[in-house]
Amino acid sequence: MSSTNYLVLLLLPMLLHRGAVTSFPIPQPPPAPENTTLEYIDPTLPPLLPDRSPKCSIMVLQHVFADTAGAPPISAPYSPPLDCPSPWSRVVLDLSASASDLQKDRVAAIWLSGAELLRTSTPYPLSPGVFWRVRKDITRYTSLLRSPSLPDDDNSTDPSSSTSPAFISMMLENSNSTFPGFYSVNVSIHFYRGGVKTEGEPIRLSAHPVIRGLYRDPADLILPVSNELGECGHGFWFRVHNESDSQLVTLTIPNNTYRAVLELYVSHHSLDEYWYANPLRASDSKANGGFRQVVVTIDNLYAGSVVPFPLVYPGSINPFFWAPVAAIGAYDFPSYDLDLTPFVGLLLNGREHEFRLAVKDSRPFWLVSGNLHLWLDAWSDGVEGALVRHRVPPMRLSRQASWRGKDGKSAVDGQVIVRFLGWVCSSKGNVTTSIRQRLKFKSRVEVVGKGAVKQAAMEVKTRMDVKESVNRAMTGKASVSVEAPLVMRTERASGGGGTVLERTSMVHGLTEERSMETKGELESSTVADRQEAVGSVLVGRDGRAVWGGGDTKSVYLFRNQKACYLRTVNVMGGKVTEDVETAACDAVADA
Ligand SMILES: *[C@@H]1O[C@H](CO)[C@@H](O)[C@H](O)[C@H]1NC(C)=O
Ligand SMILES: *[C@@H]1O[C@H](CO)[C@@H](O)[C@H](O)[C@H]1NC(C)=O
Ligand SMILES: *[C@@H]1O[C@H](CO)[C@@H](O)[C@H](O)[C@H]1NC(C)=O
Ligand SMILES: *[C@@H]1O[C@H](CO)[C@@H](O)[C@H](O)[C@H]1NC(C)=O
Ligand SMILES: *[C@@H]1O[C@H](CO)[C@@H](O)[C@H](O)[C@H]1NC(C)=O
Ligand SMILES: *[C@@H]1O[C@H](CO)[C@@H](O)[C@H](O)[C@H]1NC(C)=O
Ligand SMILES: *[C@@H]1O[C@H](CO)[C@@H](O)[C@H](O)[C@H]1NC(C)=O
Repeated sequence: MSSTNYLVLLLLPMLLHRGAVTSFPIPQPPPAPENTTLEYIDPTLPPLLPDRSPKCSIMVLQHVFADTAGAPPISAPYSPPLDCPSPWSRVVLDLSASASDLQKDRVAAIWLSGAELLRTSTPYPLSPGVFWRVRKDITRYTSLLRSPSLPDDDNSTDPSSSTSPAFISMMLENSNSTFPGFYSVNVSIHFYRGGVKTEGEPIRLSAHPVIRGLYRDPADLILPVSNELGECGHGFWFRVHNESDSQLVTLTIPNNTYRAVLELYVSHHSLDEYWYANPLRASDSKANGGFRQVVVTIDNLYAGSVVPFPLVYPGSINPFFWAPVAAIGAYDFPSYDLDLTPFVGLLLNGREHEFRLAVKDSRPFWLVSGNLHLWLDAWSDGVEGALVRHRVPPMRLSRQASWRGKDGKSAVDGQVIVRFLGWVCSSKGNVTTSIRQRLKFKSRVEVVGKGAVKQAAMEVKTRMDVKESVNRAMTGKASVSVEAPLVMRTERASGGGGTVLERTSMVHGLTEERSMETKGELESSTVADRQEAVGSVLVGRDGRAVWGGGDTKSVYLFRNQKACYLRTVNVMGGKVTEDVETAACDAVADA
């Protein structure tokens, strides 16, 4: 029996209930598509490393997540491969997984000694046998991958001085009580040495930046800003329920640190699954608007913030949009880098410092964690530094709402420019780092037709500029600009028997432009992802998609000075009708 018949059998009883008056015709169930794709894909990034095979690969985790709700993460000891020791030119994490049967989408994460390597989500499998694969460049975590041990809690921060073994953990809370599916997961790590592309070949599509961070060299030490109880509790992430529920970690950083970057992983759940479409209503604390901001403080001093990318999960809006092509980043959530180098001078006193994470305007619940990447000066035991400028004006946030019964509209706008400047004097010289973060945010929600039609739009624009100088002469600069627009419109009608039929159209995008200039050399790159989806879904009384369909068009573009990569994927009614990759972007880039 084919998998699709299974789905149709499951859905038919629900469809017989319809017959309520609706504002648009209920679409007929489509004929069961033949040979639907069981491989679900997240083609956000160009394929990694097709040219070469790795020097060595190790399987680090293998597990079946059947009934794991409330259980601690599963863990296994990790040690670097003996047959190809560091240095590595590239390291790639490879998660390959399958779903035995129908199941909900689940959030998951992989940690190495408590530092997060990947935040991901499972698909929302619409038939048994769905499988998928996620590959992620984890070269920036080299210091953790190399070190066979953890820095000891109560002893020095020198990673080589301790003896606790490293361990790799994965959290995926699945329940097989409502839906029978379980997830089988294999996690491998591939280590590359030498050049990552074949000499003499034209630059292949593997041109994705080696390290997704701003800096080319991986950090020398990574300290998790994560939940210490992770191994025995509910994972290394912190669960944040509301704005006042901030979480903190106390850290001592080595005296020879000369650069610091905090990488944040965040995801939104439960009441905040749709924060990006949340209206604002003065009279209702749950309708608190479509703005969220993850704020980091060090010893209660503001050190940076991010407005998260509005990630759409495989079960969000209409699961038929995301089968088999996931929404942008759904299998590899973006992480966010905050350059804390100007603050290093405050931390070089051998004392403990509080790193605190909070989510502004949040509702239950968010999962947040961080990795503090530290670069150490091998040529000195102590460096010195100072924070010279800390200019953090309050965000200009305007909130407006007008409602009459179910209908109305609301708007949230915000804008702020934050500046930090500090110097760190090490064997690299007396380097002054200046940071400028600009954030512009806009959310609009409008509901008409007695609640039947909802339109939501949001846009986040951020730009971060980092400049390094020695004796007032510029030695390097980097900038990252990110734009994330989202527009969606949903019409709702009764589907009968307590069900609701929703028809949605949406456009979603993520554009990231990076440039880096050191010693007169300029490097720049652009990643532009865009998806358009339209379709309908019948939502059962339990809130789960009963039946539906959708068409999704995705365009993924990567470009730097040397190479270009464009992939267009069209999905109609669950079938991939077009999947084209090209290195000739110009013809199509503006289409
Ligand atoms: C489905 O797959 C079978 C076997 O691979 C093939 O013969 C058939 O033509 C396919 N049907 C469609 C509609 O592609
Ligand atoms: C995991 O690896 C085993 C071999 O060790 C293989 O049989 C199995 O199919 C793999 N599972 C997935 C989901 O890739
Ligand atoms: C650090 O480790 C050494 C040797 O293992 C031990 O003697 C010392 O008590 C430890 N220091 C602390 C603060 O635990
Ligand atoms: C859920 O999975 C567990 C572990 O494999 C199994 O023992 C149990 O029977 C399953 N429950 C259902 C309802 O399928
Ligand atoms: C915020 O969340 C914490 C932790 O769940 C809870 O104790 C506290 O009462 C909440 N505060 C508000 C204002 O809801
Ligand atoms: C780090 O520097 C502080 C202040 O200069 C000093 O008290 C402390 O002993 C130093 N720690 C180490 C491990 O050198
Ligand atoms: C480093 O440079 C800053 C400003 O350029 C200066 O104020 C500071 O005193 C210098 N530090 C050292 C140790 O020379």
